[in-house]
Formats: sequence, C-alpha cells, structure tokens
Amino acid sequence: MVKIAPSILSADFGRLAEQVAEAEEAGADWIHVDVMDGSFVPNITIGPAVTEAVRSATDLPVDVHLMIRNPDQHLSAFADAGADYLTVHQETCIHLHKTISSIRELGVKPGITVNPATPLQAIEGILSYVDLALVMSVNPGFGGQSFIPSSTEKIEKLKDMIDRKCLEGIELQVDGGINIDTAASAVSAGSSVLVAGSAVFRHPKGISEAIHLLRRAASGELS
Ligand code: DX5
Ligand code: ZN
Repeated sequence: MVKIAPSILSADFGRLAEQVAEAEEAGADWIHVDVMDGSFVPNITIGPAVTEAVRSATDLPVDVHLMIRNPDQHLSAFADAGADYLTVHQETCIHLHKTISSIRELGVKPGITVNPATPLQAIEGILSYVDLALVMSVNPGFGGQSFIPSSTEKIEKLKDMIDRKCLEGIELQVDGGINIDTAASAVSAGSSVLVAGSAVFRHPKGISEAIHLLRRAASGELS
C-alpha cells in the first residue's frame, strides 16, 4: 500500500506536536519535514530544533527534505535531531556521492531529489546508493502549489530506471500538489510515498478526514 507522508510545512506550528499526533492516529506512514534556507529556495522554514520536536512527538519515520545550500555542513545536526531519512537536492551537492555516503555513515537513510526542470539523468548514477528517490512535482519553496502535469511522466521514467537497475528497495516519493485529484495518477505512475502538506493540514474537514480521503483517492476509489 502506498505510504502517506504529511508535510508539516502546512501545519499549525503553535500546535505542532498535537497535529503530528493526529496525523499518526489517522494512519499517516511518515512525517515529512521541509527544511528551507532562503537561498537555494526563496522561503525560510525550520531546522534541527523543530525536527527534534517532531521526532519527540511521533514514533513514525521522520523524513527530512533538505532544500539548503551546502547540506554537508548540517547533516550531523539533522541526524542527531532524529531524522530517519535525509533527502538532498542534486543541485546543491558538488560531490554527491560523498554527501550520500556521509548520510549513510551517520546511520540515516539517504534520499536524492531534483527540481522539476532538472533531468533524471542527473541522479541516475547515484540511485544504487540511496534508499529514496523523490520527484519534485512543484518548484520547491512553498506549500499549496499546483502539481506540474509533466511530473507524472517523470515518475514513470524514474520507476522504469529503478526497475531496470533492479533497485526494488528504493522508495519513489512524490512531493508537491498532491491531493485527492492528483494522488491516483501519481500512484499509477509508480510512486510509493505521497507527500502532502496543504491537502492534509489545511483541509477544511480536518487532518484525520483528510488522510482518510487521500488514502481512498490514492487507491483509485474516488476516481
Ligand atoms: C515544497 C515542499 C513540499 C510542500 C508540499 O517545497 O517540499 O513538501 O510542503 O506542499 P503541498 O502538499 O501543499 O504542495
Ligand atoms: Zn518536501
């Protein structure tokens, strides 16, 4: 079954622990933490301290998405904060293999991603070293953006690359604009983990109902 990873970017930060607990209770599989530096992406969000607070609020895997320049400088801080997955952008890593190896040496599962305009060829050579490959279906920086339609084909291509290399253990994650209208096609294309921020934490019916609806949509029930 596809995993659902609510992104706390759209949560109420004043009630973060409570909202994370509600997401876990409703059947979320992972908690996604978006780290932005105001340089690689225009927005600034959170760092290791809030990641540690999320770690304390849940037993679920904490999936940290680093949208920061010079990620190597901060890997150990996020490992110490309790990250289970650390995903870096290929665009921010000059020595990508070294960065991915450092993450693994810290005892964390490495993930790799690229911006929508970066071709998958940029990460093909690193796929056999990672536990997660992420297709960004919006330009990183903000929650609440629309799914870029060409992302579906990019997911299919990445799935094909993973299958051809016989890397069955890799999670294929999609992040950006996932909601009840886009979830089913992202899953059919090959995604195994759906990140959803506004569709979970800003849903008018609340977090629990939002996760239940998203799960039904992901299984094709609402199509
Ligand atoms: C975007 C972030 C996403 C974001 C997704 O830069 O990486 O994780 O929170 O938000 P939604 O689901 O609202 O598009
Ligand atoms: Zn993200």
